[in-house]
Amino acid sequence: MRGQLILIEGLDRSGKSTQAGLLTERLAQAHSSQLYKFPDRSTPIGALINKYLTDSSFQLDDHSAHLLFSANRWELYTELLQALNDGKFVVLDRYIYSGIAYSLAKSSLKHASSELGDVDWLYSPDKGLPKPDLTLFLSLSIEELGKRKGWGQERYELEQFQKEVKSCFLRILDPSKDSTVHLVNVEGKSIHEVQQVIWDVVVEAGCDKLTELPVQKLD
Ligand code: TYD
Ligand code: MG
Repeated sequence: MRGQLILIEGLDRSGKSTQAGLLTERLAQAHSSQLYKFPDRSTPIGALINKYLTDSSFQLDDHSAHLLFSANRWELYTELLQALNDGKFVVLDRYIYSGIAYSLAKSSLKHASSELGDVDWLYSPDKGLPKPDLTLFLSLSIEELGKRKGWGQERYELEQFQKEVKSCFLRILDPSKDSTVHLVNVEGKSIHEVQQVIWDVVVEAGCDKLTELPVQKLD
């Protein structure tokens, strides 16, 4: 028997990290559970990603950046798989869909004809990683996101980018094509209400219980 792999995805400020933390605690009431956050800035490649995200003078080609985010997931691959097979429940705060959506959004806004616009290309370095048993995308309007952030001078640019990322997420996360994917509307809901909706989906999917199914690979 193994633990289940549950992914929480969403835009910046959508409440992902809060909800991923709360879900990890809830699962811990009955099982051993662990939270992994991507990017994981504590690894060698994570340190490079952190520099890229925080130091605007540090330049990286967008394709290189994309591959680094994927490489960062591979750095944790053995540990993550081991945890699941040891019977731990693993909650992910971002994973491959963030990887694809943010790079795809750059292609729409910056370089329309590059490989970054090719979803298959973006997806390929993640092939072989453990596939989540359940993926929850926290969805809310860009207007509400704007209110949460208190955006400053760069508001317009940031809003444009988040808008683009959102539409890219919705392009690649399609519940009608993949039954493990669920969209959770968090608009106007409290932390507690969202937590309850997430827990209902987890229970409904049977992802609160150990399973005999082998870990699936992303293909
Ligand atoms: P984020 O979860 O927002 O970190 P923090 O909570 O510390 O702000 O992640 C940082 C950024 O990295 C976020 O804007 C999304 C981006 N990102 C990618 O571009 N590709 C990826 O594969 C991942 C996991 C994140
Ligand atoms: Mg962030």
